Amino acid sequence: MGVVILGTGSCLPAKIVTNHDLEKIVDTSDEWIQTRTGIRTRHVCGQDEQTYNLAVEAGQRALDAAGVTADEIGLIIVATMSSHTLMPASACLVQRDLGAVNAFAYDINAACSGFLFALDLGYRYVQADHGMKILVIGAENLSSRLNWSDRNTCILFGDGAGAAVVGYREGKSGYMGSRLLSDGHLWKLLYMYAPKSSNPQIVTDDHPGTHIVMEGREVFKYAVKAMEDAIHGVLAKEGVALDDVKLLIPHQANIRILNKLAERLAIDKERVCINVSEYGNTSAASIPIALDEAVRSGRILQDDLVLLCSFGGGFTWGATLIKW
Ligand code: ACO
Repeated sequence: MGVVILGTGSCLPAKIVTNHDLEKIVDTSDEWIQTRTGIRTRHVCGQDEQTYNLAVEAGQRALDAAGVTADEIGLIIVATMSSHTLMPASACLVQRDLGAVNAFAYDINAACSGFLFALDLGYRYVQADHGMKILVIGAENLSSRLNWSDRNTCILFGDGAGAAVVGYREGKSGYMGSRLLSDGHLWKLLYMYAPKSSNPQIVTDDHPGTHIVMEGREVFKYAVKAMEDAIHGVLAKEGVALDDVKLLIPHQANIRILNKLAERLAIDKERVCINVSEYGNTSAASIPIALDEAVRSGRILQDDLVLLCSFGGGFTWGATLIKW
């Protein structure tokens, strides 16, 4: 195989919003939010801070960690559902700001599963062309996509970005495989409309706005089951036992989903990465941020088996197994 993650990076905006700050905006309490979600704080973009700014910073840190220069990168993929611009893709602005003069660049949107789907793409490019190095980024400015008067959603999400450089190393086992899935039937349980149509032929009086709408209880049920199935799926496909996995890095949706997932898998909490209390749900950014923290703190060492899993709007979900 030999396709590996050469380095990781992440970036959180400086501004922190606490649950007590939210008490001043909607009818909620720190106690309710902590009990139901495990979230204490979230980082939120400041004025003039956009999705691509976070992506650039995370990307640069991943390049530095990998010992790779921007001009060595052949492709930049940004997974996001909160790009500042629909056109150009955030990835193009990242390409510009990093000075990645030899890279082509595009965005993908698979909601909270975006990073896993983008990583899978990166893996396949490198598998086909061992000379390629790819910058895969998950970046979100979800604070710009929330209805701040809806207490069901505005308390859950945060902003941030995480990145990984994917490349080839002779003789290393690297990336092992993925089980990725989507099902559009239940999209109305978790969605965000595109901007209202400006075509006068299209009547859009019922357009609810460009913000996240969610049926929390239903999402909860599907999220746990889907991630559990995807994990068992990829482990079976790769012939690996869960006991042999050093660290599980799930999408940081909320603590109750993570606890339930750990309980259903019967995996020791010590082997599950959890940072949702600090950052909230950062959608496509949550897995690469947690991965970067795990790498930098020494929780992941060479040859460790690492399992990533996600669930998000679409629905989209999956699990990815990596030999570090
Ligand atoms: N503060 C205070 N009360 C609230 C708040 C709030 N922020 N939000 C809802 N409530 C109230 C509701 O209005 C309701 O009141 P009522 O009984 O008077 O009608 C009560 O709390 C219970 O509401 P539920 O929605 O039933 O609360 P639940 O225990 O299900 O918790 C939550 C809600 C946290 C959203 C939960 O359903 C959940 O975790 N769902 C998963 C959704 C999720 O994580 N989505 C993220 C995107 S998808 C992903 O990333 C996997």
